[in-house]
Amino acid sequence: MTFPVTVTVENGIALVTIDNPPVNAISQAMRQGILDAVATVDADTSIEAAVLTCAGRTFVAGADIREFGKPPEPPHLPDVLLAIEASRVGWIAAIHGTALGGGLELALACHGRIAAPEAKLGLPEVTLGLVPGAGGTVRLPRLVAMQDAIDMVTTGKPVAAAKALETGLIDRVAKGNLVEEAIAYAVEMNRSGKPEAVSKRPPRETPDDVFWREQEKTIAARARGQDSPVEALQALHGSVTLPVDKAFDAERARFLRLRDSHQAAALRYMFFAERNTGRPRETEGVDPQPLGKAGVIGGGTMGAGIAASMLLSGMEVALVEQTAEAAAKANERVDGILDGSRKRGLLSDEARDAAMARFAAHDTYDALADRDIVVEAVFEDMDLKREVFSELNRVCRADAILATNTSYLDVDELASATSVPSRVIGLHFFSPAHIMKLLEIVRPHAASPSALATGFALAKKLKKIPVLAGVCDGFIGNRIMSAYRRECDFILEEGALPQEVDAAMRDYGYAMGIYAVQDMAGLDIAWAMRKRPAATRPADERYSRIADRLCELGRHGRKTGAGWYAYQDGAKAGRPAPAVEEIILEESARLGYERKPFTADEIMDRILSVMQAEARAVLDEGIALKASDIDVTMVHGFGFPRHRGGPMFAAGYRD
Ligand code: 3HC
Ligand code: NAI
Repeated sequence: MTFPVTVTVENGIALVTIDNPPVNAISQAMRQGILDAVATVDADTSIEAAVLTCAGRTFVAGADIREFGKPPEPPHLPDVLLAIEASRVGWIAAIHGTALGGGLELALACHGRIAAPEAKLGLPEVTLGLVPGAGGTVRLPRLVAMQDAIDMVTTGKPVAAAKALETGLIDRVAKGNLVEEAIAYAVEMNRSGKPEAVSKRPPRETPDDVFWREQEKTIAARARGQDSPVEALQALHGSVTLPVDKAFDAERARFLRLRDSHQAAALRYMFFAERNTGRPRETEGVDPQPLGKAGVIGGGTMGAGIAASMLLSGMEVALVEQTAEAAAKANERVDGILDGSRKRGLLSDEARDAAMARFAAHDTYDALADRDIVVEAVFEDMDLKREVFSELNRVCRADAILATNTSYLDVDELASATSVPSRVIGLHFFSPAHIMKLLEIVRPHAASPSALATGFALAKKLKKIPVLAGVCDGFIGNRIMSAYRRECDFILEEGALPQEVDAAMRDYGYAMGIYAVQDMAGLDIAWAMRKRPAATRPADERYSRIADRLCELGRHGRKTGAGWYAYQDGAKAGRPAPAVEEIILEESARLGYERKPFTADEIMDRILSVMQAEARAVLDEGIALKASDIDVTMVHGFGFPRHRGGPMFAAGYRD
C-alpha cells in the first residue's frame, strides 16, 4: 500500500510530500496522513520548520468530490488544519499547479506561502453549490482585503500567483526551483520566529452593514437563483463579526447543510458529466490524426470565431472567403476577436501577434491543399455546402478530415458530396466560438473511427467539451431548443406575452429568456429554416405564425431595432412592443383561443415538459449516447441553469 503523505527530514527541515494522483484531492487517508505528519514533525525536536509540497502536476486541488455523497469520515479537514496552525514549528506551503478549495485552505493554515509563477489559487466551492468548509472564509479576510475575499469566494474564480502576491494571499513567488526556495524560506522563518497563525490575526477590514447589504444585492442578482454565492458572502460576513471559533463552526455547519442540498447534487453531477461525455466505442485505442494545420471556410460570425479558437490553441489557420474583399474583412474580424482577448488580459501582446502570424485569409481554395482538418462555416444552405464539399474533395489531401459547422443540415448528405465520406464529420460550434465550451461532434453514418477520434482530439486541443450527436434535424441541442421554442410560441397564442415567458425563464435561472435570445441572434435564419418545409407541413400540425408575421414586417431582431421587443436608438435591452402584442392577440383570436393568464411556474412546466419529452426522444433514437450528454449540451450551449443540472437531471433521469 502506498501512503499519500510522506515525511523526509534534511538539515532540520521536514519535507512533507502529498502524493495522491491525479490532482492530490483530499481523501480520508490523506487527512489522516497530514495529521500523522504534524505529529511526526512535532515529536522530532531536531526539526525546525516544515515545507508542505505536492508530487505530480498540482498542489492539492480540493476535497475529494466523490466523497461528498457519503457521511464525512474523521479526521475532518478543519481539525487537521488547526493542528498545522498549532504545530510546534512553522509550516510553509510550496504551491505549484492549482491550490483549490480545501487545497487553498490547507495552504492558508500554513505559516507562509510560496507559489510557482504559473500557479493558480482559488476557492471554487460555490461552483459545486458549497461554501468553503475548512476555514477558507475565516482565514482569507485575515490575509486579503474584503473585496478581494468576496470576489474569490463568491465567484469561485482562481487568481494567478502574481495577483495572489499583490493581494497578500501568498508571501512569495518562486523565481527558480519552488521546493528549494520554500526550504530557504522555512530556514529564514525559523530564524526570525514563526508568524502568528492566520486565524489568530485580526481581519484586515470590518465593513459596515450597508456594505454587506449592497454586496448581497449584487451577488444575489448575479447568482440567478443559485444559493451558494450568497451563502458564501454570509459566511465571510460571519467570519469578521463572530468570534473565530464560532465563525469556524458556523462556516462548517453551512458547508455541511449545503453539501446535502439539491443544488450541490446537481452541480456535482455536472462536474463529472462535463468530464465524462460519451465517446463512440469504436474510437477506443484509435489514434487521432495530426492537428497542426487547419482550414476554415467562411469568415463570418462562426468562421472567424472558430479560426480564433484554433489560433488561441496554437494551431495554424488558413481561412477561405468568397472574394479578396471578404477575406480582408475576415482577417479584420479574427484580429478583432484576438484583440478583444488581449484587452481583457487573457492574451499578451506577443501572444496575439504570434497567433495572427499563424493566420492567413485567402480567396482561393488552393490554400487548403496541405491542411490536416478543414471546418466549413458558410451560409446554411445545402446546395452551397454541397458545392463547398465537392471543392474540398478536389483540393484537400486525401487523408484530411472535412467537417461542417452546419446547425441543422443533413451531414450524411454533405458527406455524400465527397468521394471519401468516411472522413466527413460535423463539428457544431456555438457562438461565440472562441468562448463557448460546447462542441457537438456529429457522426454521419459513414464516419471512420479515426475521423471521430480526430474530432474529439480537436475538442481537447481547443479546451472544449465534446458531445457526440447523431444525424438529425438540429442534432441534440438545436433540436431540443426548436421544440421548446415552438412551445413558447403556443404559450403566447394561449395567453402569455414574450416578456412574461422571458421573465419566467430568468426566474428559473436562465441569463436571458428565449425571446431576448432570438432578438440577439436574429430572427431571419430561423424564418428561412421554417420556410423550407412549409409546403410539406401536415395541415393538422400545430404551427404558430407569430414569428413569421414579425419577420414579414422586417422585425428581424436587435440588428433591425425591432424583433420580439423594440430597441430604441441601438439599445441592447428591448422594451415590450405594442405591435407585437397586437399580432399575438390577433393570432389568438384567429385560432379561437380564449386568452388566459399564465403564472411563471405554469410557463416553466410547459417548457420543461416539452424539453424533457424531446430529450427522451433524442436519447431513445440514439442521437445522444446518454442523458448526461444532453444535460451538458443544454447547460453549455443553451443557457440551462447549471445549478439545476440540466433538463434530464431535473426530470430525475440518471445515466
Ligand atoms: N475530487 C475528486 N476528483 C477530482 C477532483 C476533486 N476535487 N478534481 C479533479 N478530479 C478528477 C477529475 O474528475 C478527473 O478524473 P478522471 O481523469 O477520472 O476523469 C481528474 O481528476 C483530472 O481532472 P480534470 O480532467 O479536470 O483535469 P484538469 O487538469 O483539466 O483540471 C483541476 C484540474 C483544475 C484541478 C480541475 O479538475 C478542478 O477544477 N477540480 C475541482 C477543484 C474543486 O472544485 N475543488 C474544490 C472541491 S470542494 C472543497 O475543497 C471543499 C472544502 O472547502 C472542504
Ligand atoms: P455568416 O453569414 O456570418 O457567415 C458566413 C460566411 O460564409 C460569410 O462571410 C460568407 O461570405 C461566407 N461564404 C459564403 N459562401 C462561401 C463560399 N462558397 N466560400 C467561402 N466563404 C463563403 O454565417 P454564420 O452565422 O457564421 O454561420 C455559418 C454556419 O455556421 C451556418 O451553417 C450556420 O448554420 C452555422 N452556425 C451558426 C451559428 C450562429 O450562432 N451564427 C451557431 C452554430 C452554427
